[in-house]
Amino acid sequence: MFLLLVFLVAVLPVNTEGGEIIWGTETKPHSRPYMAYIKFYDSKLDPRRCGGFLVEEDIIMTAAHCYGSHMIVTLGAHNIQEQKNTQVIRVYKAKLHSDFNNETLVNDIMLLKLEHKAQLNSAVKTIALPKSNDWVKPGQVCTVAGWGILPNCTSPETLQEVNLEVQNGQKCYARSKNYNNSIQLCVGNPNERKATSKGDSGGPFVCGGVAQGIVSHCLCPYAPPRVFTRISSFIPWIQKTVKLLQQP
Ligand SMILES: *[C@@H]1O[C@H](CO)[C@@H](O)[C@H](O)[C@H]1NC(C)=O
Ligand SMILES: *[C@@H]1O[C@H](CO)[C@@H](O)[C@H](O)[C@H]1NC(C)=O
Ligand SMILES: *[C@@H]1O[C@H](CO)[C@@H](O)[C@H](O)[C@H]1NC(C)=O
Repeated sequence: MFLLLVFLVAVLPVNTEGGEIIWGTETKPHSRPYMAYIKFYDSKLDPRRCGGFLVEEDIIMTAAHCYGSHMIVTLGAHNIQEQKNTQVIRVYKAKLHSDFNNETLVNDIMLLKLEHKAQLNSAVKTIALPKSNDWVKPGQVCTVAGWGILPNCTSPETLQEVNLEVQNGQKCYARSKNYNNSIQLCVGNPNERKATSKGDSGGPFVCGGVAQGIVSHCLCPYAPPRVFTRISSFIPWIQKTVKLLQQP
């Protein structure tokens, strides 16, 4: 049920000023080698997809609301229709944050252990995580990438990226009292009309080469900002969970 809710609310941003939604651009192929394309089935057995990112050779980080059955990860992809040089690896085990709330979507973070290690190469690499005291501030501009739907509601074949500005947490709190700035990021300037969309969930929000956020949800039906998980607030949980997943 929660998946249905998430995907229903993940509609395109409403632009109150008229005009077109300004989307991102296609990434330079393999310039984001940590990107993972995740396919799974939701509780209604409908096929779904999310983004994710490689944090260890056999560990993917993504959003908890991207949990489902038959999870399978593709690494090293640019055009998702092309299998050449990609690594397709099944998920062996998933650990959602135990305080993930499928209604308010707080603690929207999950780690996936792959069936085997990825082979690292120029198209497949891990990304660094922040330190606990790494506090992302309003005004910072970082990049998010994904294969989520385009403004014309079609799915792109190639990986897209967009630069988004971190907002003052008050902007998200004003729209939803569930917003918690100590564990979430409020992202996307409402005047810029750029945003993430359905299918981008779980992807990384990258600031200076470090994954600082996870695409979580919109405060629909409002335009951006959107809510991302603040990774630096979960470092103890990440360390503990990675250790758990690495146990034989
Ligand atoms: C959402 O959370 C509630 C309460 O924890 C639980 O009963 C329900 O099964 C969950 N829904 C899904 C789809 O996991
Ligand atoms: C949708 O938009 C993309 C990017 O602008 C474009 O490449 C594609 O052809 C469009 N698809 C349709 C059906 O209009
Ligand atoms: C925000 O999250 C922190 C960390 O989980 C928690 O301690 C705090 O109580 C939360 N604040 C609110 C208002 O829920």
